[in-house]
Amino acid sequence: MLSKDSISLLIKNSVDVYVYDTVTSTNDVAKELSSENRCILVVADGQTNGRGRQGKSFFSPHDSGLYFSLAIDTSSPGFNFTGITCAVAVAVSRAIRKIAETDVKIKWVNDLYIDNKKVCGILVQAVSKGSDISKLIVGVGINISTVDFPDELQDIAGSLGKNIDRNVLTAEAVDNILDLIFKNPEEYIDEYKNNSNVLGKEIVYIQNGISHTATAVDIDKKGGLIVEKDGEKITLTSGEISVRFR
Ligand code: BTN
Repeated sequence: MLSKDSISLLIKNSVDVYVYDTVTSTNDVAKELSSENRCILVVADGQTNGRGRQGKSFFSPHDSGLYFSLAIDTSSPGFNFTGITCAVAVAVSRAIRKIAETDVKIKWVNDLYIDNKKVCGILVQAVSKGSDISKLIVGVGINISTVDFPDELQDIAGSLGKNIDRNVLTAEAVDNILDLIFKNPEEYIDEYKNNSNVLGKEIVYIQNGISHTATAVDIDKKGGLIVEKDGEKITLTSGEISVRFR
């Protein structure tokens, strides 16, 4: 059972913890609760309007998943915007490997996979104040034991399939995120690449509604995916690009 006290005790960083039974989206609640100089963590048992990237929804059934969002004050010293999405992917995959004792792969840019099925999605949103980004909302959804996916997700979504303590996994993931996002990407990009399930593969990327076939060859320090297409190297950076395996 999710517990504010357990999570607060387990987290090493200074974080204000809020635990709910059901919310619309932990990202939305974290945005509302975010405050200057504080790091806010919102965890929920279920979401009624879980958000994914590119305006998609994130299936968030009650009790069988873990849904949390961190609101981070980006005026904190040492904050590093470059490669943030890669930092979060590495941080959460480390936590899953340690707590669930299962290997997990990273699909660019920050989906986590087990046996070719997506088990975790990450949504990073910036909150702006004028022209400055004042807060970052990092949302993480992990399918822990979900089996009853809707038809359209049956073939592509999976879960950790382990009976793990969600409080322990939350604390581990949050501490890892707060550690890595203040580091230089050089310190974690090799781990990201070594755990990528995309590098070396032929992929299809969709840009402005048009599909292109290319080979994923590298990931740069900013988290851009370098692909080779018709003998030319192109770096894919936009959040609007989606990548599929061929
Ligand atoms: C994706 O796969 O496109 C990203 C999914 C992110 C889902 C998490 S669940 C917790 C947080 N709250 C949300 O509404 N979304 C993120």
